[in-house]
Amino acid sequence: MAAFKHGQIYALLRYCRLLKNTRGILKPEFHCLSYLQRSLSEVMQINHFHTSSEFYRQVVLGIETSCDDTGAAVVDDTGAVLGEALHSQHSVHLKHGGIIPPVAQVMHQQNIKGVVNDALEKAGLVLTDIDAIATTVKPGLALSLSVGTHYGKILALSAGKPFIPIHHMEAHALTIRMAHKVEFPFLVLLLSGGHCLLVIANSLDHWSIIGQTIDDAPGEALDKGARRLKLRNIREFSSMSGGQAIEYLAATGNPRAYEFPTPMWKYRDCSFSFSGLKNSLFKIISRLEEKYEVEGGNIIPPINDVCASFQYAVTKHLVRQTQKAMVYIDVRDLLPKTNKILVVSGGVACNHYIRRALQKLCDTTGYQFHCPPPNLCTDNGIMIAWNGMERLKAKTGVLYKKEDIEAVVYQSKCQIGTDLTDDVRSLGIHAQKWVKF
Ligand code: KG4
Ligand code: ZN
Repeated sequence: MAAFKHGQIYALLRYCRLLKNTRGILKPEFHCLSYLQRSLSEVMQINHFHTSSEFYRQVVLGIETSCDDTGAAVVDDTGAVLGEALHSQHSVHLKHGGIIPPVAQVMHQQNIKGVVNDALEKAGLVLTDIDAIATTVKPGLALSLSVGTHYGKILALSAGKPFIPIHHMEAHALTIRMAHKVEFPFLVLLLSGGHCLLVIANSLDHWSIIGQTIDDAPGEALDKGARRLKLRNIREFSSMSGGQAIEYLAATGNPRAYEFPTPMWKYRDCSFSFSGLKNSLFKIISRLEEKYEVEGGNIIPPINDVCASFQYAVTKHLVRQTQKAMVYIDVRDLLPKTNKILVVSGGVACNHYIRRALQKLCDTTGYQFHCPPPNLCTDNGIMIAWNGMERLKAKTGVLYKKEDIEAVVYQSKCQIGTDLTDDVRSLGIHAQKWVKF
């Protein structure tokens, strides 16, 4: 007998359970039941399961459409990914020089059904096998969110399944708990194309903001920088995200070649600002274009040094504000002294230079450092399904009633929790000595 997919095992077990429950009534099915039970013992041997309880897993379908990725995935309560599908609109938006929301919306509409069906098929499941449907409903691009929210709700209502509305940034923050035992409370640094947040994750429903960006997000600054550097004209980088292309080029550049200002140096808080760094980059590029007489789509010669210096400046700002957040946490006693954890997630957390710098900060300050693998840092359906699973297990934020599901609306903006910035500022938080990386 061939090995079963996880999903097929769940389906088989559920059927078995159903037959057991109704055995008295469904006499003709009895043969089928004993056949299934025989098959199951073989399945258990093949899959090295020891007890049948290992089969009885809850499964959640997750749907993500908050920006330019249409994602879907099925995960079980152990954090195993049973099936995943992702359609990226990245190459289309690159041609337009940025995301055009109505274009993103149409592409989500065109792809969502296929992506969801693909994830289910890979898991070997059908909708009736799913315990709940989790969908990103906030924050993000309104037109993109509208597609997933509508589709997830319709799916849940038509299949009679519970619906779990998901906050995109909470999902980024909790992805790490799929594979690692990271207990609440912990500090999270969320770095993406739309957000930059330093938050304490106290529980699934209790988040405290220690710092956030007052203008651009780091991914946004990297993407706009890459566009101004015309990196898409270099063939090997033409399909990469701006941040990824800058990371590649920076690897062989000198991070001290060009000076950037230190953002927010006057402020004794943990807020971020990236627009000043981005504008300084633009000025450096214009100066170099003039100096080297670079025209049209051509690239400035010291491209590696420029990328390395910009990446260094972004990283320095991230490390410094996080270090200040750690000082604030100590002053206010917000994390257990013997088990302080920093989790870093979101698309920009794919960057190995930034990861290494934050790892160094953690080594120096006695924090444990955790970061999901790069494919789970960028947007995906897995993190949404997992956040749904966490909520299903904790019995919080799960909607069962038709009228409650129908009432869910998407929100393009939605603060993740209570903002402690004023308290940070009132204490005049600063670091005695900056950690070097
Ligand atoms: O979390 P994400 O996939 O989407 C949002 O929710 O925004 O993050 C996308 C961002 C983009 O700005 C992209 O340039 C950045 O993540 N990114 C990177 C890297 N890979 C993706 N930034 C720096 N280094 C990378 N290797
Ligand atoms: Zn994201």
